[in-house]
Amino acid sequence: MFPELVIATSNEGKYKEFCEIIHASCENFADRIIFAPEISRLIVEESGHSYAENSLLKARAWSQKSGLPCIADDSGLEVDALDGAPGIFSARTAREKGLSESEWLLSRLDGVENRKARFTAALCLCVPEKFTLITEGYCYGKISTIARGSNGFGYDPVFLPDGYGKTFAELPGTVKNNISHRADAFRKISLLLK
Ligand code: IMP
Repeated sequence: MFPELVIATSNEGKYKEFCEIIHASCENFADRIIFAPEISRLIVEESGHSYAENSLLKARAWSQKSGLPCIADDSGLEVDALDGAPGIFSARTAREKGLSESEWLLSRLDGVENRKARFTAALCLCVPEKFTLITEGYCYGKISTIARGSNGFGYDPVFLPDGYGKTFAELPGTVKNNISHRADAFRKISLLLK
């Protein structure tokens, strides 16, 4: 579909996760998927008020800089018992307290019965001079009472996706990348393109 596609991230783990998602759900999406962390020197402030706005800010800046189609995401975890927090502040909330994401969340939910949560990801595909598409994907689950597993990142050790009995950090990457919020958002982008 695209000869070249840039993944707008300087995080190699996220880049690899995107490559797996793209290959698993749409084989001919891009001939070459590019990791160009040097572009992140143009620092894009995540100043939007929603996941969608932040993904648009990133995808637009990276595609202007590279002149190529770019995909950017913005994601977070929404916890029912915390009225949807940490949401778009997921990356910084625990860091500001000097804790890992899992430590922060387990301490906030100590003794709390309602453990329902969902991951949300907005994905923006920006094709210079042509079009911009934004979709949102979800993954529903619960927060465990202890952290388990060593795969993944962020809240993965405490997130139990519905129907699996294991945390994201215990599940193989191939499983996570089939059911994740980013995979859901990506499938919606490829459906729109078709
Ligand atoms: P961003 O989308 O790179 O701004 O990251 C948002 C933050 O949300 C991350 O730093 C994590 O704390 C959290 N997050 C988003 N997606 C995931 C995931 O798939 N697993 C675990 N944590 C996630």
